[in-house]
Amino acid sequence: MKIQILNGPNLNLLGTREKSIYGERGFDSYFNELKAKYPALELEYYQSNIEGELINKIHEIGFSYDGIIFNAGAYTHTSLAIADAIAAVKTPVIEVHISNVYSREEFRHKSMMARNCKGVITGFGLDSYRLAIESFL
Ligand code: DQA
Repeated sequence: MKIQILNGPNLNLLGTREKSIYGERGFDSYFNELKAKYPALELEYYQSNIEGELINKIHEIGFSYDGIIFNAGAYTHTSLAIADAIAAVKTPVIEVHISNVYSREEFRHKSMMARNCKGVITGFGLDSYRLAIESFL
């Protein structure tokens, strides 16, 4: 089973950025832990701060992979283009967030992409990604 984890803008700074919200851990070490935990899965990781690169990645893998776990960062709340890309491909996408976006500012309560996703997991810290993997198994 092929699963792509996709992280959007500013998520390259996990472990450095707003630690009280996003925690102390960088994503690379967490991703290595996930790979060790699910050796039978083909898990891939890609991060970009650029909207068009995220869309290109969705197009590239969205007809062949079994699942996409997507934390689009702030693009979640703003990007119709990302929402359209998710609707355009066959691979199911799960929207994830590290923080509970519903306990934060009101502008984070709206997701442009959620309606095109299989489901949404928000607020479990980095464990949100593992929970999304479990949902594909
Ligand atoms: C986030 C929540 C977004 O509102 C924010 O813009 C992020 C991270 C999260 O994982 O909690 O960059 O997606």
